[in-house]
Amino acid sequence: MKTIECMDEMQSIGQEARANGKKIALVPTMGYLHRGHASLMEEGRKRADLLVVSIFVNPTQFGVGEDFDSYPRDMENDRAVAEAAGVDYIFAPRAVDMYPSGYQTYVNVEELTLPLCGANRPGHFRGVTTVVTKLFNLIAPNVALFGRKDYQQLAVIRQMVADLNMQVEVIGMPIVRDADGLAMSSRNSYLSPAERVSALCLSRSIRTVKAAFHGGERSVAALKKIVIDTIGKEACAVIDYVEFRHCTTLAPMDRADEQTVLALAVKIGKTRLIDNGILGEE
Ligand code: PAF
Repeated sequence: MKTIECMDEMQSIGQEARANGKKIALVPTMGYLHRGHASLMEEGRKRADLLVVSIFVNPTQFGVGEDFDSYPRDMENDRAVAEAAGVDYIFAPRAVDMYPSGYQTYVNVEELTLPLCGANRPGHFRGVTTVVTKLFNLIAPNVALFGRKDYQQLAVIRQMVADLNMQVEVIGMPIVRDADGLAMSSRNSYLSPAERVSALCLSRSIRTVKAAFHGGERSVAALKKIVIDTIGKEACAVIDYVEFRHCTTLAPMDRADEQTVLALAVKIGKTRLIDNGILGEE
């Protein structure tokens, strides 16, 4: 496994591999790799000849006052996780190379980025779609793998790839959870032990809503109340949003069906966590 910082070098490797008929899989990440990322890499390994993981804490997707500076970083551990998953190249560019002085081009998906995380994190998805486009141009992957924990991000990237005719197959991979249900996230490292226990209210409320749905409840107002009551029991939890949306269009729904996704963002102390579940799935 080799770590590459230089954008030209990465681009040459990608182009040469494609010219030789090799299939490239890309797992874009911001590092601090965990089992969720490892599951993406393992799937990428099965689908391609060359597996690249990008590690880049992308400044353009963080708003003012967000956690760009404190975002956890641990390159040594990231190398070990990537190596164990069979990665060929880590691409870890420098921010000054990705966004040199005078940089002025951004990619923006419109409607899909307005609700949910887009409503409270203006500019976030514009930063995500811009950096993902740059990574696609630099690495030339045939396949790119993203986790379904960032549900809206995945929908936005699919939309961008379709709208801009990008020749990349986007694979959404299931959420990986700890044994107690907490969805794996690099930001879980911010939680104190007590907050980590409180954070279980996200997955608990998804499980409780799914049980009510499978028991016949279809009213989104009633299902939403279950989430609000479950999360309301945790003193340090503050809801950012609780939304029931169509799982592909993200259109709001009054009546739930098998295609409804429950998407949540909740602040546990100072840490903002997201989670989701499709009601029709076990
Ligand atoms: O999901 C992430 O880690 C980031 O948003 C991504 C897709 C790597 C873009 O910076």
